Amino acid sequence: MSTKKPGYYCQECGHFTARWMGRCSGCGAWNTYVEEVVASPRNHRSIERQVEPRPLIEVPLVDSDRRSTGMAELDRVLGGGVVPGSLILLGGDPGIGKSTLLLQVAGAIGSAGHRVLYVSGEESPHQIKLRADRLGVNSDELYVYPQTNLEAVEEQVAKVNPLLIVVDSIQTMYISDITSAPGSVSQVRGCTARLMQWAKKQSVSVFVVGHVTKEGMIAGPRVMEHMVDVVLYFEGERHQTFRILRGVKNRFGSTNEIGVFEMSGIGLQEVANPSSFFLMDHAFRNVAGTVVVPTMEGTRPLLVEIQALVCPTSFGTPRRMTAGVDHNRVALIMAVLEKRLGLMLGNCDAYVNVVGGVRIDEPAADLGIAMALASSFRERAIDGRVVVMGELGLTGEIRPVTALDKRISQAAQLGFGCCIVPRQKGLPEIGELETKEVATLAEAFDLVF
Ligand code: TYD
Ligand code: MG
Repeated sequence: MSTKKPGYYCQECGHFTARWMGRCSGCGAWNTYVEEVVASPRNHRSIERQVEPRPLIEVPLVDSDRRSTGMAELDRVLGGGVVPGSLILLGGDPGIGKSTLLLQVAGAIGSAGHRVLYVSGEESPHQIKLRADRLGVNSDELYVYPQTNLEAVEEQVAKVNPLLIVVDSIQTMYISDITSAPGSVSQVRGCTARLMQWAKKQSVSVFVVGHVTKEGMIAGPRVMEHMVDVVLYFEGERHQTFRILRGVKNRFGSTNEIGVFEMSGIGLQEVANPSSFFLMDHAFRNVAGTVVVPTMEGTRPLLVEIQALVCPTSFGTPRRMTAGVDHNRVALIMAVLEKRLGLMLGNCDAYVNVVGGVRIDEPAADLGIAMALASSFRERAIDGRVVVMGELGLTGEIRPVTALDKRISQAAQLGFGCCIVPRQKGLPEIGELETKEVATLAEAFDLVF
């Protein structure tokens, strides 16, 4: 018997209320409550009875069953491949390349001789065929199925018996038990729960595409993130060709890894050495206002170029603009530069940019930002063979950074000659690369300028 609970759900955060309200008391959004009816799955009880408790040591370890997706970058983010019976959510802005990535994965797994069902609620088989043709995907184990009704998909799954299912996208799927429109909170939640049940019951891995709203949340709220096993986000600037795949949640691995791809005319290409990709046209130039910084993306070091432009303000209020670094962090660094080193930045416009559209969130890039700003302000170039790292304190001290050895060895690999690092314990010895330790901003500037 199904139990029905009518009420209003906020479409932003999933908050429930019995009567309609103009403003969500959960997240404060206006006019987001929609009436919905939630039906609980009918076969719930019988499934619950099938399972019995058993000692953990008797449960077999199935990690060796992980399947490669044919893309090393994706495998790494997943923690070494797809675990059978896992539900993986791939989120991202529309047009970023989610369908492309999954079609390539489906093709690779199909070519390895495993059956794949690609369910699309957004594209017709002809459109998928066109894209597959461009991507060079032609596997006879790959089945496409244009469908938005999840029960119909379920029937076909039983017939086709695939090893991997791709559902593109969750916002277009619906269950007829639930009366609200596809993409609404209860449909998304209901469909996800249904997919999760299949995945676990039949040991089939499921990739689900989820579109992200402009607030940066998976539309048809966060409830989905809690339910699935793995949450991946596909990021990148629409106008740039590179894309970053980031793990946000992973029940079978770490979330520290990222995968880097480049969108080309024939689909997504893996970028095995991202640093050389981002530094492509740096080539050790000696130009004022630029410096290379090793940042960490998960467990991988990534060398990026930070550029700054400082020029006198022509209007009353100085402009501060940043891309790829935190605006407030730059304001703080400029204040430290002004106070501790006496650089009069107060009446200058300042622009800071990270080349290639990368985003840096870690404070280890502080010293790099400070150097780039000062270099532009003084019109003095920093030697192009130098990389810098270190967190900047308010008193002008340089604080230690994590994973120093990885950052340094990556710089050495790419042919840099000198590393300016914070004074800290356990400084690694790296062959030809010279490391210079600094304790304060002033020391660092004496070394560089
Ligand atoms: P798509 O996978 O449809 O995005 P999503 O499913 O996330 O909405 O990607 C569409 C974009 O990718 C589109 O703007 C064109 C571009 N693209 C290429 O540049 N090369 C290709 O080979 C393909 C298939 C797409
Ligand atoms: Mg798509």
